[in-house]
Amino acid sequence: MILVTGGTGLVGAHLLYFLSLENDTIRAIHRKNSDLKAVKKVFEFYTPNFEALFNKIEWVEADITDVFLLEKAFQNISMVYHAAALVSFNPKDYYKLRKVNIEGTFNVVNLCISSKVKKLCFVSSIATIGKTVNEEVMTEEGEWNAESSNYGYAITKYGAEMEVWRASQEGVDVVIVNPGVILGAAFWEKGSGAIFTKVANGLKFYTEGITGFVSVEDVVKAMILLVKNKVKNERFILVSENLSFKNVFFQIADCLKIKRPYIKVSTWMSAVAWRLELLKTLLTKKPLLLTKHSAKSIHQKRYYSSEKIISMQQFVFEPISETIKKVCALYKQRQA
Ligand SMILES: NC(=O)c1ccc[n+]([C@@H]2O[C@H](COP(=O)([O-])OP(=O)(O)OC[C@H]3O[C@@H](n4cnc5c(N)ncnc54)[C@H](OP(=O)(O)O)[C@@H]3O)[C@@H](O)[C@H]2O)c1
Repeated sequence: MILVTGGTGLVGAHLLYFLSLENDTIRAIHRKNSDLKAVKKVFEFYTPNFEALFNKIEWVEADITDVFLLEKAFQNISMVYHAAALVSFNPKDYYKLRKVNIEGTFNVVNLCISSKVKKLCFVSSIATIGKTVNEEVMTEEGEWNAESSNYGYAITKYGAEMEVWRASQEGVDVVIVNPGVILGAAFWEKGSGAIFTKVANGLKFYTEGITGFVSVEDVVKAMILLVKNKVKNERFILVSENLSFKNVFFQIADCLKIKRPYIKVSTWMSAVAWRLELLKTLLTKKPLLLTKHSAKSIHQKRYYSSEKIISMQQFVFEPISETIKKVCALYKQRQA
């Protein structure tokens, strides 16, 4: 039986759909307030026969930080897809990030070891890929430097990877995927899904910073492929294309037939903006929308190579222009 963590999020919901097409039995964990309707919505995007597929999943209430609840979810499990995480770039969330991403993964790994799970697939991030100098292309070999100016999310995803490597030393085969910014439908108000909503709502600003992008379908197809075949104890960058935020925002605006963002944000504008945002947050207690780290990273040009999965697994990525067209079509459907 397969166990999925994070099944109520962007990656996990799409993963559950593709897993439900196969013959394996699937268990997924959810928390008390998780939104299972959003998961059903994802299934509905793919097929009119979504109820039957959705009903193949056995849902169990658990939290990865609560080892006693989690233990029950591990009964009769042979494969684990661990996609649950806290995704936050707010420095105030650092200890929460450590709790969910490192301690939660510690619990998942311990249960994988004690339950003699055959294979564990962990969703990490390009945030844990070691930075190169002079805008060179980054690969899985890039050594992560804890001393460089890292931020909470990256530190905790790196800590989680260390836990997963520990599983590999204790007899569990592991694969780690390191996706870039994941584009996909359904979770329009949070995480990377909110990019579509922001552009649709008339986002004015763009930068020429560059990073890796990938479709959610490619992420989950790669995960399933890597679990099914013999590869073990390896990590794989999942990036279809390295593109500027300007390019991606413009493509989304064009697909949605709305005005493109038209104000190019310079580095000094971001530097002023994050300070003003911090002051506003301190005075009003409203959530921090732009952090010092985000203000800097939106200008950085980072290039990632997925050559490893392309050559080792003959994996073919969907071009981002296709992904954007598909996701925008679903965004419009949701508005209709
Ligand atoms: N989205 C991206 O662009 C991106 C890029 C690279 C890597 N990733 C990685 O991909 C994975 C999935 O990301 P996503 O975009 O799907 O995130 P998401 O939509 O925010 O989903 C996060 C999932 O984790 C679950 N979760 C959080 N805390 C938990 C806890 N204590 N116990 C059990 N479950 C918990 C959430 O459950 P609830 O529904 O109960 O909140 C949800 O199912 C993460 O590991 C993330 O680091 C994401």
